[in-house]
Amino acid sequence: MQKTTIIGFIGAGNMAYALISGLINNGFPASSIKLSDIDAALLSQRESEFGVEVFTNNSQLAMQCDVIVFAVKPKILSSICKQVELHTNRRSLVVSIAAGIKIDNINNWLKGNISIVRTMPNTPALVGKGITGMAANDAVTYEQKKITEQIFGSVGECFWVEEEKMLDAVTALSGSGPAYFFLMIESMTNAGIALGLDKQIAEKLSIQTALGASTMAKQSGYSPHELRAKVTSKNGTTQAAIKSLQDQNFEIIISNAIHAAFDRAREIGYELSNNE
Ligand SMILES: NC(=O)c1ccc[n+]([C@@H]2O[C@H](COP(=O)([O-])OP(=O)(O)OC[C@H]3O[C@@H](n4cnc5c(N)ncnc54)[C@H](OP(=O)(O)O)[C@@H]3O)[C@@H](O)[C@H]2O)c1
Repeated sequence: MQKTTIIGFIGAGNMAYALISGLINNGFPASSIKLSDIDAALLSQRESEFGVEVFTNNSQLAMQCDVIVFAVKPKILSSICKQVELHTNRRSLVVSIAAGIKIDNINNWLKGNISIVRTMPNTPALVGKGITGMAANDAVTYEQKKITEQIFGSVGECFWVEEEKMLDAVTALSGSGPAYFFLMIESMTNAGIALGLDKQIAEKLSIQTALGASTMAKQSGYSPHELRAKVTSKNGTTQAAIKSLQDQNFEIIISNAIHAAFDRAREIGYELSNNE
């Protein structure tokens, strides 16, 4: 990214915090980052932590930025667009992380012909291990795609989807996904406690096992199926557990859960699109 690119974040909450930390940790200059929020106390915390310029007025921020990241809750996005609409033009890039709001809606709220990227990050972005799905409209240039990749690549991995509607599947898998693993860790911990382990030990075993398994799945070069086969010896303990899970339709339970998240993402998108 060219040093002169100015990135402005509207909304100074969790996700903006993660993205600004990521950018700065990756060498992006704090002097090229601006931040606005309605909460002056929060802004002052961010200002002292990051050294970024802060604003309580969103349109003042927008008029100074090449890239504007909407990091606010979906329900207030239409009103934010009205505030910044005069300051967005064909040269600006607008990036939304608001779940469910479609590119067309944002474009209409901004009065049209704007370069817009819609994204679906996830909370592990807070620890630099996120994954973000991104969709762009036709107005987004190659350079603007590279800037977007720099922003989300600074907190983990990111990838483009061909069609915006695929973001509902991304939401169901990775957007909501961390909670599925938290539930798995919680359930394993409780089982360990029931078998007589201390809570602290049971939790440590469960968390480290999740971390180790996902690191192996990512780095070993084997598929998850192959890795599972390798650790499942005939008549062994792992086989007993896997058999119990499969007898209770584990794969179907997971598939149904992810389909439920997908259906809800589409429903929310529809509700939000008809908001205004
Ligand atoms: N967290 C996630 O895992 C995740 C994942 C994917 C996508 N997202 C999306 O990311 C967006 C931000 O999420 P978040 O977790 O960062 O939310 P958050 O922590 O609530 O941050 C939003 C910030 O925007 C502020 N705000 C409210 N009204 C404003 C206004 N008119 N102008 C400027 N700022 C205003 C809020 O202040 P108040 O708190 O005072 O209202 C808050 O500080 C949401 O749309 C969410 O759907 C989040």
